[in-house]
Amino acid sequence: RLLIIDFGSQVTQLIARRLRELNVYCEIHPYQKVTDAFLAEFAPKAVIFSGGPDSVMRDGSPRPPKSVYDLGVPILGICYGQQVMMHDLGGKVEAGEHATAEFGRAYVTPTEARTDLLTGWFMDGAGREQVWMSHGDHVSEIAPGFEVFGTSPGAPFAITADLNRRFYAVQFHPEVHHTPNGKTLYENFVRVAGFKGDWTMGAYREEAIKQIREQVGDKNVICGLSGGVDSSVAAVLIHEAIGDQLTCVFVDHGLLRKNEADEVVSMFRDHYNIPLIHADESDLFLGELDGVSDPETKRKIIGKLFIDVFQKYADQIDDAEFLAQGTLYPDVIESVSFSGGPSVTIKSHHNVGGLPEKMGLKLVEPLRELFKDEVRALGHELGLPASFIGRHPFPGPGLAIRCPGEITREKLDILREADAVYIDQIRKHGLYDEIWQAFAAILPMRTVGVMGDGRTYDYALALRAVTSVDGMTADYYPYSHEFLGETATRIINEVKGVNRVFYDCTSKPPGTIELE
Ligand code: XMP
Repeated sequence: RLLIIDFGSQVTQLIARRLRELNVYCEIHPYQKVTDAFLAEFAPKAVIFSGGPDSVMRDGSPRPPKSVYDLGVPILGICYGQQVMMHDLGGKVEAGEHATAEFGRAYVTPTEARTDLLTGWFMDGAGREQVWMSHGDHVSEIAPGFEVFGTSPGAPFAITADLNRRFYAVQFHPEVHHTPNGKTLYENFVRVAGFKGDWTMGAYREEAIKQIREQVGDKNVICGLSGGVDSSVAAVLIHEAIGDQLTCVFVDHGLLRKNEADEVVSMFRDHYNIPLIHADESDLFLGELDGVSDPETKRKIIGKLFIDVFQKYADQIDDAEFLAQGTLYPDVIESVSFSGGPSVTIKSHHNVGGLPEKMGLKLVEPLRELFKDEVRALGHELGLPASFIGRHPFPGPGLAIRCPGEITREKLDILREADAVYIDQIRKHGLYDEIWQAFAAILPMRTVGVMGDGRTYDYALALRAVTSVDGMTADYYPYSHEFLGETATRIINEVKGVNRVFYDCTSKPPGTIELE
């Protein structure tokens, strides 16, 4: 296995992701934890030093134990990791001046014949490679035994290596998307280290199960199930690890989609035999939301009730010491200060944050190293149905934020029916997997129409469909006019209470995906 020593880069986890793509098993550990004894016990086959926000010239800045250089295994230093390596091995690092700091896109030019690390690089016509730099300090003198293999305008030692010792050090970040050929560098590195590339999601599952058992022991775990992919995969995985020491609580706030509660309950109870409390609290939620139309007030009411209700049911479970969450890596990086790692906090996460502390529970988060597509792969590995794994995201506040203005049971019923017809249309036309998220929203207005020979005065619906990678930005989906016409006709014919349908052509930004 490969050890990644984390010096606090915002993108350390991407290194792990690149390695998983190469089917190499790796673990990330914060530098504070990596002692001589740790290294001896871990016995890595290769080591990577991540980047980090500190300066090696500052006394007390993060370092690996010196024994890492005596393990006889390949080491790759990235950005701050490069500077650490040079500094430790007898080179020099200088503080950044404006002229040498580089942030963003840069181009590395090779200075020597290719090394084993660089094979496959510099193939573009201009004989240079695009990389992503983000550094203030830079190496000003390389350590004895190292040679320079690539330079950039701000980094005379962009790529350096001591081929004998198999130490490689780069100033840029090969793990990020903006270093398009970065994967090749990792490929070459793991080949040099002798990895076969035979690690799989099945192995991840086994490893995760082992870790959950070690962490939990014979204590009980509760898991808040939302019906979404992440919490479901986490629950099934944890159940495989510890069986009925796990109880799931499914809070039904009355703001779910058509048949959603039944589907979730039957899948968990009947198919997986996982103990599940179906907390039907729709009267409570809808009662508190009665007459409320301000979007933020709605969200706050739902968020608070959710925690109260969850706590009420969790209190009924004996000896629960752990709370399981389907936290993914993109959630972690936004709230990384909680993880005990060395990164700088960018923003604190909001979802059910605060709940574990309030209830005195410890967290079990078996997905916190994974990205969404990896969670889907793990779900597949665990035998969850493909139709479930591929489901579009659904927000915690549910239909409340798809019902601008006051929420009534009548509107929710109409919305549920219309949404089901809309999604059915999308599936029938084979578009579901192309779209990142699609849903209907019921607008706070009635309009006049004519059906048969009669006048109608009914609700108007907005249909939404977007493409996106991460939900941060999104484009509206370009349906054909035929599809839109057919869908509007079906909804108006099949759903009582709707007589007009709009399609929302707003991208994000300036819009958001949800209406509130
Ligand atoms: P917006 O509307 O902000 O949504 O463009 C971006 C993505 O986040 C989802 N979303 C939420 N998910 N709790 C969640 O778990 C929430 O409060 C919440 N609000 C929005 C939304 O469905 C979209 O996928």
